[in-house]
Amino acid sequence: MKIAFTDSPDSEILTILVEKGSNLNPAAQELDASIGGLLTEALASARFEGNVGEQISMVLPKSAAANRAILAGYGGPDRDARALEKIGAHIYKASSMSGFENLDIMGADAGDAARIALGVMLAAYRFDEYRTTLKADKKPSLKHVSMVVSDVATEQAAFAPLAAAADGTYLARDLVNMPPNDLHPESYADKILELTAHGLEVEILGEAEMAKLGMNALLGVGQGSVRESKLGIIKWNGLDNDADPVALVGKGVCFDTGGISLKPGAGMEAMRGDMGGSAAVVGTMLALANRKAKVNVVGLVGLVENMPDGNAIRPGDILTTASGQTIEVQNTDAEGRLVLCDVLWYTQQNFNPVAIVDLATLTGATVIGLGYHHAGLFSNDDQLAAALFEAGQDEGERVWRMPLGPEYDRQLKSEFADMRNIGGRSAGSITAAQFLQRFIDDGVKWAHIDIAGTAWVEVEKSPIDPSWASGFGPRLLDRWIANNYES
Ligand code: BES
Ligand code: MN
Ligand code: ZN
Repeated sequence: MKIAFTDSPDSEILTILVEKGSNLNPAAQELDASIGGLLTEALASARFEGNVGEQISMVLPKSAAANRAILAGYGGPDRDARALEKIGAHIYKASSMSGFENLDIMGADAGDAARIALGVMLAAYRFDEYRTTLKADKKPSLKHVSMVVSDVATEQAAFAPLAAAADGTYLARDLVNMPPNDLHPESYADKILELTAHGLEVEILGEAEMAKLGMNALLGVGQGSVRESKLGIIKWNGLDNDADPVALVGKGVCFDTGGISLKPGAGMEAMRGDMGGSAAVVGTMLALANRKAKVNVVGLVGLVENMPDGNAIRPGDILTTASGQTIEVQNTDAEGRLVLCDVLWYTQQNFNPVAIVDLATLTGATVIGLGYHHAGLFSNDDQLAAALFEAGQDEGERVWRMPLGPEYDRQLKSEFADMRNIGGRSAGSITAAQFLQRFIDDGVKWAHIDIAGTAWVEVEKSPIDPSWASGFGPRLLDRWIANNYES
């Protein structure tokens, strides 16, 4: 989907934003007059009030420059960024299959066009690569959307960073949507290597290198798989110095069968999305490179496949992590924390980060606690937690803080090792976060975001979220970095 900014409409479909309780804007009035008041008549004869989401689609007489007009509700003056995105998404949805290729949107107030355009872009995402029988008339016809604005340069400049972040959302969606036979640790590592074309530095560690580093927890999770486990390290150096980076860490379990503690069969296919945390990190790195962000950031993703196999780890196994701490595996399905603990340790040892944020589809308990509209946020630093909360509100990828506390540590006690990898039924998301915190050094600012409920769309799809994978993360993280770390 190409989105342009222009000061004069020239498309087949002309969308006119109509504010709630207001008349047509002057440009629309001009058109209305030239076609004998058809727009006014359409507005008067339908249940149209101008609310966000309301639309009238009409054919225009041959004398008009455009073939179609869409009158789209613009809401009242209290509309926020979410409403603007929704307006763009609804307009896209109403026209994408119309048979027309070009659409204009006019009537946005100064400063509103960028968010409307973002809504169009997020709604236009498709994942059709695996469909061979999709007929041409089931594919979108719409190819170009133009925002008609008076100050083209300013509005376009406001859209550029949003578009960069949305590219990251697209990449994250693609990765999460991809089937696990095609996106496994080896092919995923190859895809990450392709990011060098965008100016990112990429390094991939394989099993031999990770074994030397003592990353036996991560390696343990992958040892039942025929695919080699990988650690992806992606660097964006946007500053001309070696200032300490922000670090992002992602859980990249390309498929989670549960291992020997095998999951039930029903719905297991969703576990192809268990690399959603890593996709958020990879998408964010692309967003930062796209907009040449003035900041140093490193992204690390632990890529493994959790399979049951003769060589798989067993309940009862004790693993020695890179940090030296030992873990009794009581459930091979609590694998995400085993991957993250070694990657978090590696990150601190090698990068001296100013802050670390990890993202993971870590616990089903997060879905029980928060559902599908907020990710769970855990942090050892109030300021960091507040900044992530704010960024989530700004971009509509919301996080909600949950507690940490030493009282929960009891649940992780093992009779045989330094800890066990499960904490029992109660407070499952908190004990998982508490487990991760054991691998964070004193004084290191750290946040953990559990995206088990937000990485893919279980409930009804919203028009800005048209596919299974939501691509949750890049817009949140890109905003957080822009708000807090860019010079
Ligand atoms: N990947 C799952 C968590 C998950 C569940 C994500 C549902 C998204 C939707 C994770 O590896 C897992 O299996 N967690 C277990 C942990 C338990 C064994 C302590 C869980 O949540 O049941
Ligand atoms: Mn699991
Ligand atoms: Zn998992």
